[in-house]
Amino acid sequence: MARVKVAVLISGRGSNLQSLIDACADPSFPAEIVHVLSNVAGVLGLERAEQAGIATSVISHRDFPDRAAFDRAVDARLRAVGAELICLAGFMRILTEAFVESWRDRLINIHPSLLPSFKGLHTHERAIAAGVRFAGCTVHFVRPAMDDGPIIVQAAVPILPGDDADGLGRRVLAAEHRCYPLALKLVASGRAVVSGDTVTVRSATSPENATINPAED
Ligand code: GRF
Repeated sequence: MARVKVAVLISGRGSNLQSLIDACADPSFPAEIVHVLSNVAGVLGLERAEQAGIATSVISHRDFPDRAAFDRAVDARLRAVGAELICLAGFMRILTEAFVESWRDRLINIHPSLLPSFKGLHTHERAIAAGVRFAGCTVHFVRPAMDDGPIIVQAAVPILPGDDADGLGRRVLAAEHRCYPLALKLVASGRAVVSGDTVTVRSATSPENATINPAED
């Protein structure tokens, strides 16, 4: 079976990238990472990619006059390396509508909240301050609006009395590392089907349902 060629876009630590690298190490996983691109040089995520023998690029947004020019350069690199699907994993740039639409339903992101709550930054501080009982994470198809798009996988993480943003963030991150490989598997295998604003997961199995909650058809 041909594996779907994935490029991962990062800006930093790359712990979600690592979870995808680890998942793709299984030859039966339906995706392989062909390239890791960072807009910041020298970050830990690039080291993780090199350690795994994956080709990397650095394209700094600072070298371009505007967002559109940066996105065109990123797009050209992704097409040159043969990427079929893009995973954003802590990529701290907002992408233009032209870029997002040209990768429609082939561009996914992970966000550390239960979307559509708490879009943007500082999600854990804001969830604690709002007094919600559950935080979590979401993997979704990307649409032009920030942190918007059909949800593929979510995991809920309880907020405990006395939690601070760091402690909660660590537990959410552990959930992220389970959710992103599952979401990539569902998308790469063609089981995550977008219909309008939502995703239906074909033939969801019970272990997936136990921790995470894809809608079944
Ligand atoms: C994660 O919390 C992810 O949800 C958010 O940025 C963070 C990236 O962490 N988009 P890492 O670089 O994957 O460790």
